[in-house]
Amino acid sequence: MSGFVLEMRAVTKRFPGVLALDRARLELRAGEVHCLLGENGAGKSTLMKILAGAQPLDSGEIRIDGAPVEITSPHRAQQLGISMIYQEFNLSPFLSVAENIFLGREPRIGRTPFIDWRRLYADATAVLARIGVQLDVRRPVNELSVAQQQMVEIAKAISVNARIIVMDEPSATLTDHELRALFELIKTLRRQEIGIIYISHRLEEVFEIGQRITVMRDGEHVATKEVCDVSREDIIRMMVGRELTEEFPKEQFTLGEERLRVEGFTRTGHFEDVSFSLHTGEIVGLTGLVGAGRTEVVRAIFGADPIDAGTITLDGHAIKVRSPQDAIRHGIGLLTEDRKNQGLVLGMSVRENTTLANLGAIVRGGFLRRGEERRVAQQYVADLHIKTPGVEQTAQNLSGGNQQKVVLAKWLYTQSKVLIFDEPTRGIDVGAKVEIYRLMNELVRQGVAVLMISSELPEVLGMCDRILVMHEGCIAGELARVDASQEAIMRIATGERAVIVP
Ligand SMILES: Nc1ncnc2c1ncn2[C@@H]1O[C@H](COP(=O)(O)OP(=O)(O)OP(=O)(O)O)[C@@H](O)[C@H]1O
Ligand SMILES: [Mg+2]
Repeated sequence: MSGFVLEMRAVTKRFPGVLALDRARLELRAGEVHCLLGENGAGKSTLMKILAGAQPLDSGEIRIDGAPVEITSPHRAQQLGISMIYQEFNLSPFLSVAENIFLGREPRIGRTPFIDWRRLYADATAVLARIGVQLDVRRPVNELSVAQQQMVEIAKAISVNARIIVMDEPSATLTDHELRALFELIKTLRRQEIGIIYISHRLEEVFEIGQRITVMRDGEHVATKEVCDVSREDIIRMMVGRELTEEFPKEQFTLGEERLRVEGFTRTGHFEDVSFSLHTGEIVGLTGLVGAGRTEVVRAIFGADPIDAGTITLDGHAIKVRSPQDAIRHGIGLLTEDRKNQGLVLGMSVRENTTLANLGAIVRGGFLRRGEERRVAQQYVADLHIKTPGVEQTAQNLSGGNQQKVVLAKWLYTQSKVLIFDEPTRGIDVGAKVEIYRLMNELVRQGVAVLMISSELPEVLGMCDRILVMHEGCIAGELARVDASQEAIMRIATGERAVIVP
């Protein structure tokens, strides 16, 4: 006996033009949280898809409790006690919590085909109780928050007696409070001897819940360590393969003209009387707790949602923005939080996606200048370190973080006057974050006014000249860079104190 519930050895996987996994390795103990770390495109999700039976491996060995197994399908993975909590949940939105947990395995009345609802609800309640979650099992899952849906997914895994649970970036969409609940749940799972593989780009989380880490780079195994033996810097070094000197390469520019002014923006029930301005030469942060109304405000500025009152002034002229097309025409760009759905055409190539929002720039005399388009795309692939075999690769085939970088390239290419970034570095690895910050500097240097929504306070403090803090749909305070601290922001964000520091 090896003492490991799971061993993956020398796992190799090749896609056309990409060696995604090169003799990758992972060992998991019962009851441990094992963090799987690596840059965007390192091969983490691919390794986990192989484990979950969603993709075949080219070569390599997988052992469960020391015995070699072949994981030929998701069903086989489930039989072996492996469950994967995907980011895009596999739940049926209109069915109840209980039906989702036992989908396809609902208890029947005797030998009849009829579902035994009493037992179904009782069993579902019992499963939830086992992981310490309180939820009305009769509620349809589309009425639940993202975090609650995640709990239902985990309950589903528990109900099939999963002993290995994979969580691929589970925290990316959770509020702080929900994250706490997830961590509690993970502790409960550990006590039940379940082994958890946890993928995240937020390194703080590793130290909070992880026992061991495995770092991957370019599909290869770099190191496996006990969390207590490594520092944040060690992890970064192992991930990116070099020393990262500056996490926040902030550059200071002289404050210029007012570019954008938003006044009295109100959308009843969402946000109220929001006013602020953006100047050239500065990056302004918009922060607050998740749900404070930040995304709603910027969607309205971009014309994606209607407003009940408010005006927008761009370069001293009042403008009307009734649709995203209007916004783009005026030179206002929004890099959305939900990039997969709103930012990218998955079936198109990296090249086509890059120029999508600014086709005018590469069409001459009615003809698309493909060579120019390719050159532009190649430049961004190089600047942003987008990991792809080439610009002709379909966006769908890129890793999650690299897809985000393509969306970023798309907006950078629009040559906007105002760029709004909504959580620009979520799901992006530490090394690539620095590249994105450098590009923001470059945009500011070129006269673009930048507004950045972020929940990552170190990033807000590290990169913004001014910080607007929202609380329950209102701007509750504004802090200059010099006066800002995590504590000061949190006090305003939680409504404890409203301060305007001019
Ligand atoms: N279906 C596919 N076809 C072609 N290439 C693929 C496919 N799936 C993944 N890849 C490539 O394999 C490599 C590893 O991707 P993977 O999604 O495993 O990375 P990751 O470590 O999960 O990254 P991220 O942190 O960005 O999610 C990447 O270069 C990716 O482009
Ligand atoms: Mg991934």
